[in-house]
Amino acid sequence: MGKIIVGKASDIPSGRMQKVTADGKEILVVNIDGNYYAINDTCTHAGASLSEGNLDGSIITCGWHGAKFDCKTGKLSAFPAKIKDIGAYRVVIESENIFLEV
Ligand code: FES
Repeated sequence: MGKIIVGKASDIPSGRMQKVTADGKEILVVNIDGNYYAINDTCTHAGASLSEGNLDGSIITCGWHGAKFDCKTGKLSAFPAKIKDIGAYRVVIESENIFLEV
């Protein structure tokens, strides 16, 4: 497991998200009330980019069919069908830089 820099904390204000690429993976970095979280960007239902979804608090709603995931944990929070949770990554902020452990 390595630590990869993906940007500056100041580039993602509270309540916003940004898709980044780290270690060949597309990952969504989210700022929730000044704390940063990271989950896989690809929805486990049918592959939509969650970066095109809607963020409300810590819940991201997929723009294609409405699956809801908690950005803090990657856990599925609502969807009629049984689909997998989404992968989550540890985020470390050092000197205003965002690092992901991937
Ligand atoms: S692709 Fe995300 S809910 Fe269907």
